[in-house]
Amino acid sequence: MPRCSNSLLIALANFLKFLLGHFLILVPPSTLCTPASTSGVLYSNQFIYSPTSLRYAAGMLNNQFGVYVAYGYNNVTSTSIWTAGQSSTPAGAFFAAQGDRNLVVYTSSGVPIWSPMVNNGGVGAPFCLTMEASGNLVWTDSTSTLIWQSSSSG
Ligand SMILES: *[C@@H]1O[C@H](CO)[C@@H](O)[C@H](O)[C@H]1NC(C)=O
Repeated sequence: MPRCSNSLLIALANFLKFLLGHFLILVPPSTLCTPASTSGVLYSNQFIYSPTSLRYAAGMLNNQFGVYVAYGYNNVTSTSIWTAGQSSTPAGAFFAAQGDRNLVVYTSSGVPIWSPMVNNGGVGAPFCLTMEASGNLVWTDSTSTLIWQSSSSG
């Protein structure tokens, strides 16, 4: 191998790392997917964002799970277009997209305070929660069949 190849490869690898780093910052996830028996969790101020414009963010704001209007990454407003009908909004409440296919908001000590009770719907794994550009938050099974939706729009 010619001598220049190694440094070229290293430069290329560094460039890809740089691109990946920026990609991860500029393009936050729109989906939260859960393999069987694993839960995807959103804690306080953690969100998934609608693609491209990042106009909507789904997650926990002020201990309330909902779909909020956003102005890009890390700029989520308290204006909601949908909120889960939680029985309370205690500090430390978190959202779980569960491997048992259910969606649940829990208190910090693990008491359920909201759920659409969809654990019997759908087939296979993973299930994915997706924040769509329309403002709708959808929970789909491994065949992309709709199991639950917030039915919200902007
Ligand atoms: C959030 O977005 C609004 C509207 O574009 C802007 O006025 C505000 O400065 C932004 N805040 C932050 C912290 O970026």
